[in-house]
Amino acid sequence: MLQAHIADVRQTHGDRDVYDPSDDSFALVDALVKAAEEWRSKPPRICVEVGSGSGYITCSVALLLQHLGITAHCISTDINPAALHSTECTLQAHNVADKVDLVHTDLLEGLRPRLRKAVDLLVFNPPYVPTPDEEVLRTGIAQAWAGGNRGRVVIDRFLPMVEDLLSPDGQLFLVTVAENDPEEIIGIMQQSGLSGEVVLRRRADEEHLSIIRCSRKVDRQ
Ligand SMILES: C[S@@+](CC[C@H](N)C(=O)[O-])C[C@H]1O[C@@H](n2cnc3c(N)ncnc32)[C@H](O)[C@@H]1O
Repeated sequence: MLQAHIADVRQTHGDRDVYDPSDDSFALVDALVKAAEEWRSKPPRICVEVGSGSGYITCSVALLLQHLGITAHCISTDINPAALHSTECTLQAHNVADKVDLVHTDLLEGLRPRLRKAVDLLVFNPPYVPTPDEEVLRTGIAQAWAGGNRGRVVIDRFLPMVEDLLSPDGQLFLVTVAENDPEEIIGIMQQSGLSGEVVLRRRADEEHLSIIRCSRKVDRQ
């Protein structure tokens, strides 16, 4: 059971300026646990999380890879320095701090040239809550949720990067809510030559969560 090899939420590092693991984080990890069944035959070598927050997802990926005996280069970014400190502490609490490089940056700024067509696993639980656009410019914990118009401001900056980052077998896992229009996001990905589908749907309080998975289209002869 791979589910037994994810981060312990009680051992994530809490901070009032950092997003605590929540239903969206749990849904994304559940989708990753399912995907990890395929990693035995197709091991990811470069794994990237954008917006690591408490580190719960990054740590779960590192633990799943360790359990499967896969050596991968893992990189996690966050725009909030307090989030990177929490991620570091969460990784340390699970004895996998040496498995992940942490980078303080906006999305993947500064990393993209080196990651071109190289990322096997790309994950992002973005700030998706619809808010006035100016709230996206706030710092600290607001950056965890403030998503601007339709919750799409940060998502729409991220989407154009994806095709250039994914390796031939690479996959993106992206958290969305209904207000973000997941079907439209899949359509945008298709226009960039990727295929996309919702691999997990979940209702959590008022949120209708969808986890989108995107990959390169496979030409069927
Ligand atoms: C919804 S929280 C998710 C945190 C964690 N990954 C989880 O699922 O529990 C979104 C995270 O993205 C980070 N973030 C927001 N905008 C970002 C940006 N432009 N670049 C990098 N990280 C960003 C926030 O600081 C926050 O930690």
